[in-house]
Amino acid sequence: MPLVSMRQLLDEAAKGGYGVGAFNVNNMEQIQSIMEAARETQSPVIVQASRGARAYSQDRFLYHLMIAATELYPEIPTVLHLDHGNSVETCKSAIDMGFTSVMMDGSLLADGKTPSSFEYNVDVTRQVVELAHAKGVTVEGEIGCLGGIEDGHGSGGSGLEHVTDPVQAEEFVKQTGVDALAIAIGTSHGAYKFSKKPSGDTLKMDILIEIHKRLPNVHLVMHGSSSVPQELQDVINKYGGKLNPTFGVPVEEIQLGIKNGVRKINVDTDNRLAITGAIRKVFIESPEKFDPRDYMKPAREAMKKVVATRMTQFGQAGHAKDYAPIPLSEMVKRYASEAVPA
Ligand code: G3H
Ligand code: 13P
Ligand code: ZN
Repeated sequence: MPLVSMRQLLDEAAKGGYGVGAFNVNNMEQIQSIMEAARETQSPVIVQASRGARAYSQDRFLYHLMIAATELYPEIPTVLHLDHGNSVETCKSAIDMGFTSVMMDGSLLADGKTPSSFEYNVDVTRQVVELAHAKGVTVEGEIGCLGGIEDGHGSGGSGLEHVTDPVQAEEFVKQTGVDALAIAIGTSHGAYKFSKKPSGDTLKMDILIEIHKRLPNVHLVMHGSSSVPQELQDVINKYGGKLNPTFGVPVEEIQLGIKNGVRKINVDTDNRLAITGAIRKVFIESPEKFDPRDYMKPAREAMKKVVATRMTQFGQAGHAKDYAPIPLSEMVKRYASEAVPA
């Protein structure tokens, strides 16, 4: 099946009351891990690429790997999504390349660091909605800013500096017509999110619930949602790594989010940890090995295991065969006739 729109996946997830993991990729092995996990668990899936990933893979390598994924896993509804687009131009280039969904992260200026004004965010997001919907492509916006910095992207800070204001969230959706809304509730990108297991003071699930009450039909997105499991940290440190003690977002909090309108859950760090731990293990245990396949295969397997676990925990497992893909040309008509409400 061809790449499908994220809107279709999230609408289906809302009907079924489950969440869909959005996993970041930079290379072939990560794509293979996700697709294998999707096949094993029979899950629809969102594969996402950041600007850094697009640069690393020269864009076209990544795009064609994703086409290969649709050929090799025809039974899996698969979305190719741009993660944290920093400008209208970046989103446009992804749409032109064939991404079926884009995130316009107008919560930050185009430098990807400086928190923007509400007016700026509405302006750039609305422009992207206009050009994306004309092609049937889905748009995710963000209101409020996450903490942390990944690959030069992010506002920095603890994650509590720019928590989403529910009133602004409602206004933002009304003024932009986004399909999905990323919110900031105290999480950060990367491994260092919380210094102890988060409580209501540090992970603001009450704000998420309030936003869902105001916007019951909007697909909410949780970024920075790696759980940073202790066992993945332990493997890295056991084999010569130096991670400081840290806590991620507990899966049960994500599951509470899913009960309250969260349909897309962004996970990158957990997979990075799994890959790095597996590679370190081979390097330390078998220092004589130098064929990249000797460590890339276990790395791929380790990431697959994490992804399959998350697919089951988020509830998307078993839903791959629930629906036939809606072509983007049909999505264009639906947006034009407002059959797909903003
Ligand atoms: O938002 C952050 C994602 O984990 C992607 O990270 O920009 O380092 O590729 P990246
Ligand atoms: P993590 O760093 O928690 O995996 O978050 C990834 C993310 O939000 C990508 O947009
Ligand atoms: Zn993110």
